[in-house]
Amino acid sequence: MGTNSHIKVAIDGPSGAGKSTVAKRIASAIGADYIDTGAMYRAVALKLLRCGIDPESEPERLSDMLSTTTVDFRSGSTLLDGQDVTGEIRTPEVTAMASASSALRQIREKLVELQREMGRSKSVVMDGRDIGTNVFPDAECKFYMTASAEERARRRFAELSAAGARDSYADVLAAIEKRDYDDSHRALNPLVRAEDAILIDTDGIGIEDVTDNMLAYIESLL
Ligand code: DC
Repeated sequence: MGTNSHIKVAIDGPSGAGKSTVAKRIASAIGADYIDTGAMYRAVALKLLRCGIDPESEPERLSDMLSTTTVDFRSGSTLLDGQDVTGEIRTPEVTAMASASSALRQIREKLVELQREMGRSKSVVMDGRDIGTNVFPDAECKFYMTASAEERARRRFAELSAAGARDSYADVLAAIEKRDYDDSHRALNPLVRAEDAILIDTDGIGIEDVTDNMLAYIESLL
């Protein structure tokens, strides 16, 4: 694995494939930092909503905002300008704004720079859409995790129902299909499997087994 003592693990794939569950477990098993890049796009989206900025028609306000914005992680929490926004970034409004605004060059450039900085001096497990293709094309280990839209909708629907939400399965499936389409059809760094990423299809496989297999592979590289 070369002379570097730190390792970068890239995990990409569509929403609901189980990336964050697996990435957290792998990070804790190998003593790396877990970086949820989706949470970073969500934090910026929350700030756009709070400031009332339309990122597409107000590029100058967007650029001023980005130049004074910090996004960081501390013990599993997402910090926006030092404030814990872990819960607030999961609302449907923020999800919609994150999906739309993550297509914009200014936002991607700012967050990709922060992500590369985070991986410079320590081991990281990073999940997102463009980690293996764009953020760390040189990552030692790349995975592309997926599952059918129906399977992902079933998992998300179960989570939402358990939390008391009233969304129907059909709504959840439609939202997942729309986000898949938008994430993989945007012009800049769309969701696509890197040629050298290992494909993990999690349809019908328990998350424990998935994690164990990925860990065994990573440990064989260390
Ligand atoms: O993984 P998530 O649902 O929390 O991501 C929120 C949005 O951010 C999603 O619509 C796609 C976008 N995103 C991205 O464009 N690039 C990444 N590396 C991670 C997320």
